[in-house]
Amino acid sequence: MVTTLDDTKRQAIAGKLADIKAIQSLIISTEQKLIGSCPDQDVRDRLQNMLNDDQKNLGVLETVIVQYGTPAEPHSTVKKFVEQAQQMMAGDELSFYQKLIQHELLKHGQVMSGIVVHKAAQVVGADIEVAIAPLNTINFENRAHQEQLKGMLELVGVRELTGKDADQGLWARVQDAVAALSGVAGSVVTQNTDKQDINIQTLIRLDHNKVNTIFTEIGATKDAQKLQEYFGQLYKDLLAHAQAEEETVYPKVRSFYGNDNTQELYDEQAEMKRMLDEIKSINPASADEFRSKIKQLMDVVGDHVRQEESTMFAAIDNNCSTEQKEQMATEFKAAKSKIQQEMASKK
Ligand SMILES: [Fe+2]
Ligand SMILES: [Fe+2]
Repeated sequence: MVTTLDDTKRQAIAGKLADIKAIQSLIISTEQKLIGSCPDQDVRDRLQNMLNDDQKNLGVLETVIVQYGTPAEPHSTVKKFVEQAQQMMAGDELSFYQKLIQHELLKHGQVMSGIVVHKAAQVVGADIEVAIAPLNTINFENRAHQEQLKGMLELVGVRELTGKDADQGLWARVQDAVAALSGVAGSVVTQNTDKQDINIQTLIRLDHNKVNTIFTEIGATKDAQKLQEYFGQLYKDLLAHAQAEEETVYPKVRSFYGNDNTQELYDEQAEMKRMLDEIKSINPASADEFRSKIKQLMDVVGDHVRQEESTMFAAIDNNCSTEQKEQMATEFKAAKSKIQQEMASKK
């Protein structure tokens, strides 16, 4: 069916996500430097809270990139920019106020990139929207951070110029702006509280939902080019997901989920992989054959997913602690990321 499993639009979005991750790391290192040189306790505390958010958000961003499924490097221009910005922030040419301005600009750029990726996802495919959904929470927080930084800039700027404090009530105004924003963000911000502690069931379910979305996209399109694009994504997502489960989840559940049940999961995945390769080799002109094989694959995957989400998930709940489930999620995510990178380098 496919001449290549890659699609240029999807590759371009992967590059943008890699840029966002590089900038997120820059934002973190800049905040650490700003905290180290901050003349004001109140501003320092606020920067510390921001740093905590940003470190959590780097983890969310890593999850999004693995969900997205296409690994990529940041652009060389972004790498160069990061280097220069780090030097500038470490140097003593700029005043604290000037450094804070640069930081606010970084946040602004990060918000815009997040929005751009969202708009691009809407154009390219519903499966991408599903994969990058958590980016929303990062964007709302970055918007709130921008408002806080504006307040800090006024405070620090007035002090640098006059040696005196700015009008009282400034912080209240900043808090108002943040509150207004959280009102808009609503449940997204609330969801944020436990985003760091994603458990293995949630992570696996996210993958299943994404695969389900791609099946729906395949069913809905008549465009041969789109069909190839969606199948390329499906192929990569299913293989990486299955492989990561076999490396990190199935060996752990075997003792309490039972030998037979676990073996069944392995066997179903072997069948699924066989079908994927079969579909990959179908002549692109045979659209009917392609669709009927996809339908068969969908049934096999559907049965498999139902078994995992019902009995396997319940067995995990009954036999693993919260920490163990989170640990499994961390291992699953790392294994999947490694598999994706190996798959990308083999081409
Ligand atoms: Fe599975
Ligand atoms: Fe699964």
